[in-house]
Amino acid sequence: MSDIKVITSLTNDRIKAIRALEHRKERKETGMFVAEGTSLIISARDNGHVPETLVYGDGATESGIVRGLIAWAQKAGADVLQVSEAVLGKLSSKDNPSTVLGVFKQRLAQMPEKIATDATWIALEEVRDPGNLGTIIRTADAAGLGGVVLIGTCCDPFAPETIRATMGSIFAMPIVKVSLEEFASIAKTWPGDLIATHLDGSDDYRARAYRGPELILMGSEGPGLTDEAAALATAKVKIPMSGALDSLNLAIASALMMYQVRADRLKV
Ligand SMILES: C[S@@+](CC[C@H](N)C(=O)[O-])C[C@H]1O[C@@H](n2cnc3c(N)ncnc32)[C@H](O)[C@@H]1O
Repeated sequence: MSDIKVITSLTNDRIKAIRALEHRKERKETGMFVAEGTSLIISARDNGHVPETLVYGDGATESGIVRGLIAWAQKAGADVLQVSEAVLGKLSSKDNPSTVLGVFKQRLAQMPEKIATDATWIALEEVRDPGNLGTIIRTADAAGLGGVVLIGTCCDPFAPETIRATMGSIFAMPIVKVSLEEFASIAKTWPGDLIATHLDGSDDYRARAYRGPELILMGSEGPGLTDEAAALATAKVKIPMSGALDSLNLAIASALMMYQVRADRLKV
């Protein structure tokens, strides 16, 4: 059981090091990231992720939930820091700072050796927007997907905006990072449909009977899917649109696809 340390100085080195994790370079060098808010810390706990450091504000222990999280983190060997409201405000990426935040080790997954027949995965080529990525990870979790594959140069899944948008699903969803060449090998041995969601698709995405396990492929916000990635697909589907827009937002298109493919496996 670790002792609780009290920090009130804004210039404390521990505080500066945690704050620095808002920068991608620092996250890359340390392999750590920050998750903020009780619901994210609960999701971490429930999915077996122990923070290296747990930070809470002076007034936070009025909440029984926060007291429970502090006790869990101490027991699990985390460093626990009690900080002043001013220090918490400096660490928080929100206007209205959360009462508790954790510093966690980044965990990436590998593709499983064997993919279950009823599994669905989603692959994103060069996703750029951290909010879109976080929303897709959260929706993938909700729709019961097996994992999220990031192809090529994507935004950082451990950026504060991504983590916030996942609402804790970052701790539940396997995230696999691959190059386009590595993705081509995955595609070659994928045992079911590899469906590109593409503006050039001629099939309505609601009209297909999908053959599991399904791997859904999405393009980036700007240029969409590269020809190389699209050529790996066994099917190309389109989501119909009326109006003058040329495409849907990536996170929305991903959500529609994930829910369509999993429709018969999701029950209220
Ligand atoms: C914002 S769109 C990219 C638009 C890009 N200009 C293009 O030509 O693909 C991001 C991704 O969402 C998916 N997408 C968006 N709207 C879609 C639609 N109506 N039908 C199929 N896929 C769509 C595609 O995977 C696309 O690559």
